[in-house]
Formats: sequence, C-alpha cells, structure tokens
Amino acid sequence: MSITKLLPNKADKTVYNLSNYEESLAGFSWKEVEKQFTWHTTGKVNVAHECIDRHVEDGYGEKTALHYLDGEQEIKLSFAEVKKQTDHLATVLKNNGVQKGDIVFIFLPKNPACYIAMIAAVKIGAIAGPLFEAFMEEAVKDRISDCQGRFIITDTELGKRIPKKDLPSLEKIFVTAEPEQCDADEISLNELLRNTAPEENATEWVDLEDGLNIHYTSGSTGKPKGIIHAHRAMIQQYQTGKWVLDLKEEDVYWCTAHPGWVTGTVYAIFAPWLNRATIVLNGGRFAADSWYSAVEKAGVTVWYSAPTAFRMLKAEGDEILRRYDLSTLRHLLSVGEPLNPEVIHWGNEKLGLRIHDTWWMTETGAQLIVNLPSEVIKPGSMGRPFPGIEVAVLGEEGEIQPAGEIGHLAIKAPWPAIMKEVWKNKEKYASYFQFGEWYLSGDLAYQDEEGYVFFQGRSDDMINSSGERIGPFEVESKLIGHEAVAEAGVIGKPDAVRGEIVKAFIVLKKGYENSPELLEDIRKFVRYELAAHAAPREIEVLEELPKTKISGKILRRELKVLEQERLLKA
Ligand code: PRX
Repeated sequence: MSITKLLPNKADKTVYNLSNYEESLAGFSWKEVEKQFTWHTTGKVNVAHECIDRHVEDGYGEKTALHYLDGEQEIKLSFAEVKKQTDHLATVLKNNGVQKGDIVFIFLPKNPACYIAMIAAVKIGAIAGPLFEAFMEEAVKDRISDCQGRFIITDTELGKRIPKKDLPSLEKIFVTAEPEQCDADEISLNELLRNTAPEENATEWVDLEDGLNIHYTSGSTGKPKGIIHAHRAMIQQYQTGKWVLDLKEEDVYWCTAHPGWVTGTVYAIFAPWLNRATIVLNGGRFAADSWYSAVEKAGVTVWYSAPTAFRMLKAEGDEILRRYDLSTLRHLLSVGEPLNPEVIHWGNEKLGLRIHDTWWMTETGAQLIVNLPSEVIKPGSMGRPFPGIEVAVLGEEGEIQPAGEIGHLAIKAPWPAIMKEVWKNKEKYASYFQFGEWYLSGDLAYQDEEGYVFFQGRSDDMINSSGERIGPFEVESKLIGHEAVAEAGVIGKPDAVRGEIVKAFIVLKKGYENSPELLEDIRKFVRYELAAHAAPREIEVLEELPKTKISGKILRRELKVLEQERLLKA
C-alpha cells in the first residue's frame, strides 16, 4: 500500500472516516517515509537542502516560499530567492569561522531575516539556536553561557539585550545592519554580505545524527536545558506536515509561533518547507486585526496556532471577524496547551472549521499525538498516536495502565524526531527514561478504549501560560535577585484566557513594606531582566512559605492547594 494515499486530499469537515486511522497504522513504516528524501538515494543529508534547494532543482524555483506581512509592508520570496539568500549568508558565516557542529544563536524578530538565518546556519551544518524575541538579558545569558555559544545573529534592537561583558565565550555578534549602526563589538552583516561573493551551493553534507537545532526548555528544577535535535528529525517533520497539517503544494500555510519556541522552528519553517508549501510570516505581536488581515491578504489555507491565541480572537468578538474574508481557510490546528471545548465550538460556529489538537514537546521534536484531518474529534482529547508512534499511560512502577486510568503519559522510544541529547547533561537525558524504553513526558493523561488521549495536567511544577512552558525555578531565581525579596515560590494559577498565569508568593526582606508600588517594581524587575511572559501577573506577600522539614525546599504543591482552595471559595 502506498503510504502517500491514505488520507483524503482535502480536509473534510463533515465526513468522518475512522477506517483511515486503522489503515494508516497497518501500512505504516518510517523506512517508507525516508524514500521521500533526496538523501535516500544520494546519501547526502541536510535539512536545508530538503527544505529549499531540492525544490529549486525540481523546477519549483519560482514558487513563493515565503510571504511576509507586517502592517502595510509585504515581501514575497521565491524558493530560488531563499536559496540565493541562504547560500549567501551561509558563505559569510563559513568565511567567518562558523563550522559544522557550532551553535549559531539567532536572536531576531519574526521576519524574513530570521528565517533566512535559520536555514543558512543549518545549511553549513551548524546548529541553529533561535532565541525568543521577548528574552531579556538574564534569559539570553543563561542560554548562551550554558553551551558556551560563540556566534549569534541579531539586530540593533535585540542586540542591546545581549550582556556581552558577561558572555566571554561569544566571539562574533553579527548584526543585520550597516557598520555605522553597530557597536564596536558587533559585526555588520550588511557589509559582510556586500563584500562576499556567494557560493552557488554552500551546503555542507552532514549525517542524519548530526545536530540541527537547539532549544532551551524549562523543567521544574534548575535552569533551562538545551535540547538538541538531529537532521533525522526531518523524516517525522515531513510526514506530520503532510498528514497532520495536511499540507499540499498549493497550500498557503501560517504557523503563528516565533522560532524561539520549538513549534516556530519545526512547524513554521521545516515541516511546511519540507512539503514545499508557501509559508506566511506575520510580523509584530498578536492583534486580531493584523491576524485576520494576514489570513485574508495572504489567502491562508492551513492555520496552526495555540488555544490562547484562539481564545483571544474569540474574546475580540464577531464584529471584527466579519470584516475579513477568511473563506480560504480549510484546516485549523492547535498546540501547546489544553484545547478547551469552547474553543472548538468557536471554530465550528464562526469559521465553520474543526480545530485539530496536536500534542508534542520540545524534546519529542515533532508531533506524536494528533487528530488526523479525517478523524472524529473528541472534545477534551488531544487525539491519537501518529502512525508509527506507540503511546502508553504508565503507573507509578512503570506498569501499563488500562483504558480510563490516569497515569504518566509515555512514548516508546525511539522515533525519528526524538531529541539527540540534552546539552552536556547525560543525567537529565537519562531522567526521561526511568522505565527503560518508555520516554516519560511529565504529563498526566488517560487513554480511552479507542486510544484517544486525554490530558490531565503535569506531574511536576512546570507552568504552561499561553502555551509557553515556564520553569518556576527560573522565575524564583530572578525574584530573589530583587533587593526586597527574601524567598519566592512560583506556581501556575488557572486563567480563563491564558490557561495558567504565573503567580508568585514571596517573603519580603526585613525593612521592606508590602505596597502595590513595590510589587509592581518586582514584577517589572522580572519582566525587563528575564522575559515578559515569565513575569508574574500576580504577586502575593506571605509571612513565610511552606517548606519541607528536612531540606527546607519550598513546597509549591502547597501553594497550589492554597490557591485552589481560594478559587473554590470564590
Ligand atoms: O504539558 C504539555 C503541553 O506543553 C508541554 C510541552 O511544552 P513545550 O516543550 O514548550 O512544547 C512545545 C511544542 C508543543 C507538554 O508537556 N502541551 C503541549 N501540547 C499540548 C499540551 N497540553 C495539552 N494539550 C496539548 N495539545
């Protein structure tokens, strides 16, 4: 059976065809998927080649690869143009000492330069390390210093947030600007590009197992960890792009995430370009007007976002929605946090489309639990395992739980996109595999008789605000850096729009009085030094924090119970 013909060509809004799922499971093999790639026959591997250059070779050079919108500004780049620009930047990077295996941090807003930098870094076999544009000094410092990063590409604005003096490992700071706009320790990329003749084919061939990208991600303890993925991830990124995003050559596809979140790398860049789709990139922050207008102007057909964004659109009401022609949309998807049934209903009612939930993690490298376009959606469930993926719910001893029982959501390793390593942290890597071949996600869930997975929360203290994973430890560490804060415990508090908000409980140092001004000052301290999304939306002062008797560790669990009791009373 041909694996490319299992699903119907167009996402069908009304006809459910359960047999597809069983069929795709039966005929599936990752080995077959591999045959889609040029490396399968040439033996030469590079994701950048499979995303861009091969399409030019195959005669699609004139096709629009990227449609960028920012207010009134619009830029369209063809695959040939993206090839040219990435070859050029790749040559510049190579000439400036970047070698295969080096990490190149990319700290740019959502714009074409950011996407070009991602592909150019990958093209020369470097590991692309996109940093979220909202990161402030501390967040940037923690990440670059952890892996002793030597190279970064940034712009004049974000470049100001790189604490250069505290980062002795940084050798070259490439800035997308003219020399006169750069600081003394920055290098003008504009000038380098002017003075460099591009290699026509700058691609460095790598192995499937070589590093592709690094994303720092939060756990419940310690600083963020660097999760590294390998080029082999493309196998799964391609296939989920094809079957889950349902991407066809004629699709105009928009994933709203910034590459600093793994979704914004894997599903905004790699998966769609591996499938030769046209990517839409909308600059600026969330605004309903700008988002609807981008869908209309670009003629978006497939749209991938997060529940918080859909809830924010819903909250903006119908009047604004009616002002735009959204009729090109044919397939909607969501990721990152629980997709509540109200949002699914909003999609049905207002856009006439079902929103398809997908589940995965930074560590997993690609989607694992999904709603294929032709399947029944059970509101409250994240869907079923993608073909070729084995999921189980485990009990405390690693025993497989029967249907309906809540336990630890686990995936049988390996799968093509699973992380390659945690940067210099074997112990952390091993912590995911306490039960042998089962990768432990840290999520709690149950499966029903048909294999649908229902998310039930986290088994640790990780916070998920607007789909963004926030480690309480990182926020607590920053909070106690404020002169007035003696101790801090940070939890996620349920919130109707954001899923959870960051709430901090603090104990003040002697001599400090609780006041709204002081709390605002503390909030801003986190906001402007760590990141806006990590800044507590609520701060509460307590006399003392609950702690374990022996080690004196702050008991976030009890802070959560305190908050829950209040919510129940309210
Ligand atoms: O708790 C799960 C939640 O997000 C976590 C992964 O976060 P991150 O690595 O930032 O994800 C990046 C790519 C999605 C998971 O452990 N999560 C993710 N998807 C869903 C979800 N929670 C509920 N429903 C989902 N569909």
